[in-house]
Amino acid sequence: MHPLAALLLFARVPCDWRAAPTGVPLHWGVLWVRGSGRIIQVADDPLVLGIETSCDETGVGLVRGNTLLADAIASSVDEHARFGGVVPEVASRAHLEAMVPTLDRACAESGLALSNVDAIAVTAGPGLMGALLVGVAAAKALALSLGKPLYGVNHLSAHVAVDQLEHGPLPERCVALLVSGGHSSLLLVDDVTAKVEPLGATIDDAAGEAFDKVARLLGLPFPGGPYIDSAAREGGAVTIDFPRGLTGSRDLERHRFDFSFSGLKTAVARWVETRQRDGETVPVADVAASFQEAVCDVLTRKAVDACRTSGAARLVIGGGVAANSRLRALAEERAGRHGITVRVPSPGLCTDNGAMVAALGSELVRRGRQPSAFDIAADSSMPITTVVA
Ligand code: KG4
Ligand code: ZN
Repeated sequence: MHPLAALLLFARVPCDWRAAPTGVPLHWGVLWVRGSGRIIQVADDPLVLGIETSCDETGVGLVRGNTLLADAIASSVDEHARFGGVVPEVASRAHLEAMVPTLDRACAESGLALSNVDAIAVTAGPGLMGALLVGVAAAKALALSLGKPLYGVNHLSAHVAVDQLEHGPLPERCVALLVSGGHSSLLLVDDVTAKVEPLGATIDDAAGEAFDKVARLLGLPFPGGPYIDSAAREGGAVTIDFPRGLTGSRDLERHRFDFSFSGLKTAVARWVETRQRDGETVPVADVAASFQEAVCDVLTRKAVDACRTSGAARLVIGGGVAANSRLRALAEERAGRHGITVRVPSPGLCTDNGAMVAALGSELVRRGRQPSAFDIAADSSMPITTVVA
């Protein structure tokens, strides 16, 4: 008997030795403490493999508990660069080519074999349909051949769950701000495996999309976010007062937690065009800094408002734009004023990766959530309220 189990018996803690009522098998070393609603690990956590292919990154992660063992990524971003955005068909083909080598790399990185895997998680949506299909088909093949459970998970919940790998278990209630090239959402997360509610989202462009489009206007490479971030840092001053979408009092009535970035993008385009028409040089660093400030101002203002309104003392920021240095600093500053703690994963875990899918899979297994059926479909517009397909 495991020493911790003996200790529990000695302390007369009522335990159900068979399995948790939610169905987590005993061989994963799980004890269900009756009445307390708690699960106690007494042995090794299961090893969960996570597969991500919703956009242009083929990601394979291996996670045990909250420990990251491998995070292998192959990106097709260079193949999309000349188009100024992700081309779905190019992304799907790149996933097909990268899937097996990326799986191999994850195994090599961790020193583990596929036969060691206890469960498989895969992004089932939202995302690009053809791209999602590659990951879902690979995950089904692995789950069937290894005889292990399959979890088809929501990409956005995975962006939230990944934070556990670095900062420990998520608090009971938190607000998540997810900002990337494909999404900009504010979520109320009471349980990342079961209860995720949308508070608001972009009504037009995603935040990352706005960064990418403005970068293009300024002659910076794709994806533009990191280039705008560094241009703004290198001596850029916030001198241009670009518009803050959906922040006027009338907009706030209907769109308190929603975002809009297309007006801002157009305002930057007009500003740049006017300078060019007048034969003036465009002050790239100043435009980058002023645009970035407008985006980060709105994102942090609404995120802090969402925390205060919902009584959440934690704000988790995820998605590629979470790597933005100004967003991180402003969020800390504004949230801190109201006693709200900001949790942001390190940049490599903010962008799309397999580790985030494995992290969510690991939490689903730990909480004994029901696996998916083997005939699940990829769902390009999977609603945020569905954590597992
Ligand atoms: O999460 P992600 O890797 O993929 C999805 O779009 O789902 O996010 C990519 C986006 C791109 O739009 C990129 O420009 C943006 O994240 N991004 C940034 C930064 N790093 C990446 N945006 C602003 N500042 C950054 N430092
Ligand atoms: Zn993403």
